[in-house]
Amino acid sequence: MLEIKNLSYKIDEDKNQKDILNKINVTFEENKTYVITGPNGSGKSTLVKLIVGILNVTEGQIYFNHKNITSLPINERVDLGISYAFQQPITFKGLKVRDLLDIASGKKNSVDQLCDYLSMVGLCAKDYINRSLDDKLSGGELKRIELAMVLSRKTKLNIFDEPEAGIDLWSFEQLTKIFSSLKKSCNIIVSHQKKILEIADEIILLKDGNIEKQGSLKEILPFIENKTCHKLRGKNE
Ligand SMILES: Nc1ncnc2c1ncn2[C@@H]1O[C@H](COP(=O)(O)OP(=O)(O)O)[C@@H](O)[C@H]1O
Ligand SMILES: [Mg+2]
Repeated sequence: MLEIKNLSYKIDEDKNQKDILNKINVTFEENKTYVITGPNGSGKSTLVKLIVGILNVTEGQIYFNHKNITSLPINERVDLGISYAFQQPITFKGLKVRDLLDIASGKKNSVDQLCDYLSMVGLCAKDYINRSLDDKLSGGELKRIELAMVLSRKTKLNIFDEPEAGIDLWSFEQLTKIFSSLKKSCNIIVSHQKKILEIADEIILLKDGNIEKQGSLKEILPFIENKTCHKLRGKNE
């Protein structure tokens, strides 16, 4: 479904080139949930931004359903069926929650449908559909609305960058339920949380712009426990 081949991302820093990602090779298959984890600054957000097209690759290729999408603009990747939820959601002044969900799903949704998407993320539609998507919404509310936006799109590839950030423990359970409900898609979730690692079919551990290890939770956990920070072990929950 998604193939990443020799993918590198370099930036110019003080006249030198710095490797943020270094020849990454990884394949994501249909109907599977992947978690990308690793220390802060290891390149997780960069990798997903390259897949979505927010950043341009320095070297390498990205194939989506065998089509080379490496140079496609974001909107064309979205049209092909890729959805993305930002680590830090963006606000859209003047747009209401219901407008966002209608635009995202490409149709006018009934209040019942909007209610289904919003209640899955723990929000009551009555209170939210006419709210403006501005900075009066809290970080956690924006994260939930963004999750609802991805749910409403029903796409084959869903990418979430630290969906748990800013979400309280009660809805953490709900978050894992949401991912379980997306089993018929390929899901790529950037996360540090053990509860999210537990729902992954496969985990990719990034370190310093390289894939350090890839495998099941059982295979990855000793690596995480021995080599990385406490946050990865769920001790900061
Ligand atoms: N535009 C940029 N300029 C300088 N450094 C950057 C830029 N974008 C990312 N980086 C650096 O690249 C590394 C990887 O960043 P990121 O992918 O956001 O990490 P992660 O999501 O794993 O925490 C970090 O060291 C970050 O500071
Ligand atoms: Mg990040």
